[in-house]
Amino acid sequence: MFDPVISAADAADPRPVHALLAADLDAFLSARTAQWPPIRSLAAIGGFSAKAGQVLAVPSSGTGPEAVLFGLGDGSDPMSARALAARLPPGDYAFEDGFGGFDDALAFALGSYRFDRYRKSREEGETRPRLVAPAGVDLARLRAVAHACALARDMINTPANDLGPRQIETIAKEIGQQYGATVTCVAGEALLEAGYPAVHAVGRAAHAARAPRMIELTWGSGTHPTLVLVGKGVVFDTGGLDIKPSAGMRLMKKDMGGAAHALALGRMVMALNIPVRLVVLIPAVENAISGDAMRPGDVLATRKGLTVEVGNTDAEGRLILADALTRAGELAPALTLDLATLTGAARAAVGPQIVPFWTADDGLADQIAAAGIAQSDPLLRLPLWAGYEASLDSDIADLKNDPDAWAQAGSITAALFLQRFAPASGAWAHFDIFGWNPKGSPGRPAGAEAQAIRALLSLIEARFS
Ligand code: BES
Ligand code: MN
Ligand code: ZN
Repeated sequence: MFDPVISAADAADPRPVHALLAADLDAFLSARTAQWPPIRSLAAIGGFSAKAGQVLAVPSSGTGPEAVLFGLGDGSDPMSARALAARLPPGDYAFEDGFGGFDDALAFALGSYRFDRYRKSREEGETRPRLVAPAGVDLARLRAVAHACALARDMINTPANDLGPRQIETIAKEIGQQYGATVTCVAGEALLEAGYPAVHAVGRAAHAARAPRMIELTWGSGTHPTLVLVGKGVVFDTGGLDIKPSAGMRLMKKDMGGAAHALALGRMVMALNIPVRLVVLIPAVENAISGDAMRPGDVLATRKGLTVEVGNTDAEGRLILADALTRAGELAPALTLDLATLTGAARAAVGPQIVPFWTADDGLADQIAAAGIAQSDPLLRLPLWAGYEASLDSDIADLKNDPDAWAQAGSITAALFLQRFAPASGAWAHFDIFGWNPKGSPGRPAGAEAQAIRALLSLIEARFS
């Protein structure tokens, strides 16, 4: 169960947190010395200079409770409270001196995330620090966003043996039930009848208990404009017969990160009751190896009717997204957003912390980029460069899934592949997420990370509210 790390304003006796710019530390210490004489030497002994992320617990002043000094450095990091949450011992805390708004409280909530499903400490009911909601903060919204980000991270962190296609279906159904959405699922051989041949081809090699499926969640009034969210749900990517080397396979439990993000974003849309008709489409498969696996050179049918030559079985994400995007186009969407851990090339281009995105709609692109900056959720537009389209030409089929090497830009050619299947109606944008912190830091533990969805929530509100 999600543990609310932001408590209502009435929590008893929270410890005060003084958030300090480095430039303001000296004045702060001087002002406090009269009522609290040891404060300056406590800061000196603790090496506290109000550097960004620094935390110093100081004992009671005699009249007041024990307190915490928290460094903001030069104040340039809007997510500084992530480190604060990670460094505090359990207990209740409240920001002092008028510091702290929605974004600081959210940063605190995101920074207190831990994945302890498989640890003994979880059973022992280990508690986390809790922040009293700063005055005027919309607690329901804060919890909806924090909960969604934790959901995405929990799903990504959960290994493939406990998170198969069926578990994604179950999670979608649970979320749907919570908000009165309808969730349907087509699985296994029925995918062929239902017109999802590429989803079937990619997922059919998996064990029957982990059969491929197409999950569709629908919510909201049909009188509202339709928003479609598509998420790549590859629960594990071995690469298929074009098997990945060990190092490349090691993290591939996270290849359902797009599905986790789409569900998390959809959950926020429903929780905040945004006036849209929401459809979340999740093709959920395991890219496994068996006698029934798709082969290099196979030609697949797709829902759209285009044939795709499988040049490489490891380029599986674009195959399942092709069918899902075609389905999106049948729903007359005003906006379609797809999220996927689609290419290693996206990482070579921008690394793990920045999400590249593609859209043909310049207005939408500007709005997305602006939302990314406003929400401290970094996004960077890359072009749907038509000059590389010929790299997808196949000798025998309508297109192929492994672009020619001459085009080099693997994340762009992947986006161009998706564009061939994107809805004709409304705008479409594609996000190549990583969903992972390769290196841990306070408030950003190594492991799953939620990306782009805070920015996209604000984008969706701007376009539809
Ligand atoms: N899931 C991977 C992409 C990936 C790799 C994401 C590493 C994050 C980290 C995807 O299915 C894949 O294997 N893509 C190939 C495509 C290639 C075969 C055309 C890639 O990026 O190498
Ligand atoms: Mn792959
Ligand atoms: Zn993949």
